[in-house]
Amino acid sequence: MNAVPPFAPVTQRDLDFFVSKIGASFVLADSETLEKYASDETEDLVFSPDVVLKPANTAEVSAILNYCNNQKIAVTPQGARTGLSGGALPLFGGVALSMERFNRIVEIDQNNGQVTVEPAVITQVLQQAVAEKKLFYPPDPASKGSCFIGGNLAENSGGPKAVKYGVTNEYVLNLEVVLPSGEIIWTGANVLKNATGYNLTQLIVGSEGTLGIITKAVLKLIPMPTKNMLMLVPFHQAEQACEAVAAIFQKGITPSGLEFMERDALIWTAKFIGDESIVIPDHIQAHLLIEVDGNDEEVLMRECEAILAVVENFKTDEVLFADSQAQKDKLWNLRRKVGEAVKSQSVYKEEDTVVPRYELPKLLQGVKAIGKKYGFHSVCYGHAGDGNLHVNIIKGNLPDAVWKNDLPVAIRELFELTIKLGGTLSGEHGIGYVQKSYMNIPFGPVELTLMRGIKKLFDPNGILNPGKIFPDA
Ligand code: LAC
Ligand code: ZN
Repeated sequence: MNAVPPFAPVTQRDLDFFVSKIGASFVLADSETLEKYASDETEDLVFSPDVVLKPANTAEVSAILNYCNNQKIAVTPQGARTGLSGGALPLFGGVALSMERFNRIVEIDQNNGQVTVEPAVITQVLQQAVAEKKLFYPPDPASKGSCFIGGNLAENSGGPKAVKYGVTNEYVLNLEVVLPSGEIIWTGANVLKNATGYNLTQLIVGSEGTLGIITKAVLKLIPMPTKNMLMLVPFHQAEQACEAVAAIFQKGITPSGLEFMERDALIWTAKFIGDESIVIPDHIQAHLLIEVDGNDEEVLMRECEAILAVVENFKTDEVLFADSQAQKDKLWNLRRKVGEAVKSQSVYKEEDTVVPRYELPKLLQGVKAIGKKYGFHSVCYGHAGDGNLHVNIIKGNLPDAVWKNDLPVAIRELFELTIKLGGTLSGEHGIGYVQKSYMNIPFGPVELTLMRGIKKLFDPNGILNPGKIFPDA
């Protein structure tokens, strides 16, 4: 077994140690397992680990990290491997530390509106468990049916509800974390306000598994809203759909979902899921999917009317109101499946651009102009209310050489535009492996040196999730 220096290869002695700590059934080095844990949902990237370890508890994680730190073995933490920035790819081989056995909801504390979970609880499973107690955990990435809370914490995931309720970090109160040394810490306290020293909790959230391994999380819950209304608005021009977004907020309304889908996104997805019942005439270039929620139907009706008054200022066709739960589920399913549908269509590259929401029309315009310049077709969709546009660049029939050489130049130009518009590289997918070479666009040497210093403090030997976030040079 090899490893790229400066990391040590995994030897039989190492495997024996792992077996002695966590048991032979959870130390896996057969080719089928290695292949499975060599990829996540990021494009077609494959990096095989040398061994997959599946610890059962915090003490086992601590023993593994302490050992690997001393032996200088690379450790890549993994959850459900649904990530979209390559954060879970074992770039240097070594250990893939799968947290999948940490799948317990430890306690739902109804008195305080909190839940303690292990990191491998599936996001939707958590949402359903707390919903039974009329509580709400809002962050809901498109992959909520399969992604793990631990991955959501690592990437600071968002999803459609973020526009009203905020992203993952706003729900994290306290974390149990194992450091690369094997030491175990709690980052904060189970309280809603905390002015006690540096905020280690928020430092760990979004650190993409580079600082420590989360083994428990205390999360905030809010009361479950009881009613919602959903509408699909077809726009003649995609840019006008983007313009309508900020205009809705300017009328004093905060929708609980405000999603943008370009024409191709909806058509491809309808085909992909085998339901083409929504007719999309040739002159429709984009849709907004808009949800409002709360507890008072009359208030929601008034909000819908105000939204309609805004969209009437643009060229639109008749608005589709979801009139049943089945219709709502269908529309949300369509939206949630866009990523998978695009993936099934062609080789692609996905970016997770984010700008202040009023700049969204300029971002879309820029994406199309850059595409034209370099000959790329793109399909855009995403969380328009957050100014968060997923840009899928489609390879289609482009020659490999153009794809390989011109694409990074085009993407750099795209990121330079997002930063010029006041935005940044990623809204919710993280930097991971695939965006790291662009980190010198939003950050200068001073900021990057600070970040590298933090990394060094937590992980002096650089064993934890190596090759992520920081540009190589
Ligand atoms: C979505 C994922 C790709 O919004 O973030 O569908
Ligand atoms: Zn998204």
